[in-house]
Amino acid sequence: MQTIVLPRDGARTEADLDPTLDLWSEIERLRREKNAVILAHYYQDGEIQDLADFVGDSLDLSRKAASTDADVIAFCGVRFMAEVAKILSPRKTVLLPDAEAGCSLEDACQPEDFRRFREEHPDHIAVTYINCSAEVKTLSDVIVTSSNAEHIIRQLPADKPILFAPDRHLGAYLARQTGREMTLWPGACVVHDRFSERELTKLMVHHPRARVAAHPECPDGILKHADYVGSTHYILEYVLKDPAEEFIIATERHIIHQMEKAAPGKTFIPAPGADGGCSCADCPYMELNTLEKLYLCLVNAAPRVEIPDDVRLRALRPLERMMEMSPPVVQAAVQAAE
Ligand code: 13P
Ligand code: SF4
Repeated sequence: MQTIVLPRDGARTEADLDPTLDLWSEIERLRREKNAVILAHYYQDGEIQDLADFVGDSLDLSRKAASTDADVIAFCGVRFMAEVAKILSPRKTVLLPDAEAGCSLEDACQPEDFRRFREEHPDHIAVTYINCSAEVKTLSDVIVTSSNAEHIIRQLPADKPILFAPDRHLGAYLARQTGREMTLWPGACVVHDRFSERELTKLMVHHPRARVAAHPECPDGILKHADYVGSTHYILEYVLKDPAEEFIIATERHIIHQMEKAAPGKTFIPAPGADGGCSCADCPYMELNTLEKLYLCLVNAAPRVEIPDDVRLRALRPLERMMEMSPPVVQAAVQAAE
């Protein structure tokens, strides 16, 4: 199901942009004119993070989207995040700078395949990671993010078997943490799946005092070396609080922008991929969004998220369940969506 409306024929494109245009002040003007709020994920380019009204993880951003009184949300992140903003804030215009900004986890879990998976396991509770399409959400019992998943799974009836989709590494990590048996969907994130254990251990030898912080989308070979495992929000909190001065960061490298701003005296090293470099730590979907495309989406009011009401309401249910079952700090986003 297509949830993105593209710019109409004749809309302005990058080819029409005057290279001398001051994008920062133009975006500022449009933000005021349209009563827009700019939300950015930690994986966006530093320039976008710096001009955003709010930077956060997928859940923080949804809560922000639901609570803002802006008319327009320019969502600098990926499609599933913009869809969640629209599901929670149906009366707002939700823009995504690049319509192709998807996610390998979403791609790996097509709704028809997921429907069959559920039919093959009729007694299971379907716990689905927020990194999936709106349509897959409609087929799920409860949605989780990496910051609330463990807390939610611990509340599920002990006698009920669990299906976890679409990230197999996050699912395996949660199964280990909670002791729950889970049937896992075989998806993975293209960024976290590429970190190399061999190269990481070499790096650790060169930086013996560095702490390792990893996102639970990483394979176990990486997580077992981590001093801390958590969502982007919690990794950021960890490196700021921990007294160590050097950290190896096993998640998408653009989060280091916030770390360096908040703790300029500390050193942050991106975890390496198989070639020993760190190019693997760039999300190819997040990097599609640029300042030019952010400006153009505000001018054209597109690409824009539109979700049919029946789909939106069915996807809202497992998201509401997530909010009800989340720790207090992550409740409250859904009220505005009713
Ligand atoms: P969080 O920011 O919720 O930790 O998610 C990471 C991610 O991969 C988002 O796409
Ligand atoms: Fe998806 Fe991975 Fe990119 Fe996050 S970092 S949007 S999980 S591909």
